[in-house]
Amino acid sequence: MGVEHKEKIRITDGDWAVEASGLVKAFGANRAVDGVNLNVRAGTIYGVLGPNGAGKTTTIRMLATLLRPDTGTARIFGHDAVKESQIVRQLIGVTGQYASVDESLSATENLIIFSRLLGLGRAESRRKAGELLEEFGLTEAARRPLKDFSGGMRRRLDLAASLIAQPPLIFLDEPTTGLDPRTRSQMWDTIRRLVKTGSTVLLTTQYLEEADQLADRIAVIDRGQVVAEGTVDELKSSVGTSSLHLSVQNPQDIETARQTVERMLKVQSIVSYEAGKITAPMANADLVTDLLIALREAGIRLAEMSVQKPTLDEVFLTITGHGVKDEGSLASYEYGKAEVAKV
Ligand SMILES: Nc1ncnc2c1ncn2[C@@H]1O[C@H](COP(=O)(O)OP(=O)(O)O)[C@@H](O)[C@H]1O
Ligand SMILES: [Mg+2]
Repeated sequence: MGVEHKEKIRITDGDWAVEASGLVKAFGANRAVDGVNLNVRAGTIYGVLGPNGAGKTTTIRMLATLLRPDTGTARIFGHDAVKESQIVRQLIGVTGQYASVDESLSATENLIIFSRLLGLGRAESRRKAGELLEEFGLTEAARRPLKDFSGGMRRRLDLAASLIAQPPLIFLDEPTTGLDPRTRSQMWDTIRRLVKTGSTVLLTTQYLEEADQLADRIAVIDRGQVVAEGTVDELKSSVGTSSLHLSVQNPQDIETARQTVERMLKVQSIVSYEAGKITAPMANADLVTDLLIALREAGIRLAEMSVQKPTLDEVFLTITGHGVKDEGSLASYEYGKAEVAKV
């Protein structure tokens, strides 16, 4: 059945894979998704970036026909996600949907079962399973039962399983959250390969770096709304290419230091008065020298200074004018204003 649809639907790079307009989903009084518009071109990787609770998963579930929007419409390759959900389901893959795999069976056996369920023949299923395990670097583990798989291996097998049908559009909901750096970069390679072989990928992430590494375009989502949209470069230039972190030796100097930073860099900064720390986006790292001279002329002694990549917090601060107020997920946010830092 899936094959019939796939033959009828021709997809060309440049078509709209996703056109979502005014999507709303409320849970009681909580408008989890509050008027989201998203447009994703076929053949690209699109990143939806936002903190825990921003509405990423709820948005994906509506696009993937798993949840009905209260209002608004979503079209997948031109097909309405509500009215034509059967067709849309033939066109998409969602990771996480194969959560109930048989733990006592091997990775190969699991993939063969999925293939058979999708209507592939016995030989074809075996071939496909072998191909995917190779593609995902799981060949050596192929005969082991799933219960012996690490978190990273499971994530990759899950992605492999969702690709058996070779869907033109793949939703990846936080594909690397909680993975170690090495496994994360393996996943990134895999995702890039998916797109090279003709798929379109819509992924959600809490990591600016991940969106940066992978996405052609990004939507920043905050409290159920898209607050910024554009290419990675556009987004970055709105934030600055790097981020200045400094702390003063004498806490009484913090206010003067803040004024000096804001005057020299012409930006808004984040100040933690208790910790004596200042963070600010920097469009031009060359300004560091001028800033250091200005701070010395003002008689301010620094305890520490560094220039780093911008964090998600700074993207948010710059775009929304407030920090990431969410619980837990961004616990590394140690330099924020008091109400921002509260967890
Ligand atoms: N099934 C649900 N029932 C009630 N509230 C929900 C449900 N799913 C999500 N929410 C709430 O909707 C908001 C957005 O959640 P979610 O879409 O999961 O965000 P994200 O994926 O960006 O972390 C959160 O406040 C969350 O608690
Ligand atoms: Mg989520």
